[in-house]
Amino acid sequence: MIYNTLAHYYDALVKDEEASREWVSWIESELAPCDCLELACGSGEITEMLALKGYTMTALDLSEEMVKQAKSKNLEGSIEFLCQDMRHLNNLGSYSGIFCLCDSFNYILEKEEIDAFFHEVSQHLKSNGLFFFDTHSLDRLEEFDSEYNETGAFEDGCQYQWSIMAEDDYVYQDFAFYMKDKVIQEHHIQRVYDPKWLDEILSKYFDILKVTTDFDIEGIAPGEKYFYVCRKKVQE
Ligand SMILES: C[S@@+](CC[C@H](N)C(=O)[O-])C[C@H]1O[C@@H](n2cnc3c(N)ncnc32)[C@H](O)[C@@H]1O
Repeated sequence: MIYNTLAHYYDALVKDEEASREWVSWIESELAPCDCLELACGSGEITEMLALKGYTMTALDLSEEMVKQAKSKNLEGSIEFLCQDMRHLNNLGSYSGIFCLCDSFNYILEKEEIDAFFHEVSQHLKSNGLFFFDTHSLDRLEEFDSEYNETGAFEDGCQYQWSIMAEDDYVYQDFAFYMKDKVIQEHHIQRVYDPKWLDEILSKYFDILKVTTDFDIEGIAPGEKYFYVCRKKVQE
């Protein structure tokens, strides 16, 4: 199970408050506080920031351990957390905003699932509701053509190895956690989609209002991530 052990070290490894604030500003620039659903909320950094800004947040993640981390930050208990798959939202109502942030979208591995996912998201948006998501850029594939390796140790003494490499359309991330009495490994696979193909599928369900690279470069340009703001299409 991915994000089982990583959940405990996720913030120590990747938490970046400045970047989280940029995600929040990006959302705020397009959508005033309202009722929102965050898909794949992870450790809940952005979720909590949005809640503190006045957004009414429901947040879900597939990993129970990530949900536990996220819940522990929401001391005021204002956020509804759920442990569930973002591809199946039948049990949920409709929202004015839906977010899927920080590469979470790239965990959907099949093209058919992307189509179904966009359809599902659109079904859970109110009319004129907005969908925000980001995705790894095509440049990420080139960047990780040569393997990236990182090693280090956490405060509790657990040492780790983290490697990232790309092949074809996929980014592979391997984590090894060296605990006192065992080694735990997590193998993550993410898929990177061509933005031209994404536009085609998105357009079935949404009007694409804005695409930027790395937050503020307009359109698809060299960079790490593409950011999409989409509005639910009016049904004819
Ligand atoms: C890179 S983390 C990003 C977390 C968070 N959005 C953030 O901003 O830090 C990816 C998250 O996606 C979640 N995830 C992956 N596949 C999922 C799925 N099918 N449904 C719900 N969550 C999923 C993982 O459990 C993990 O917490």
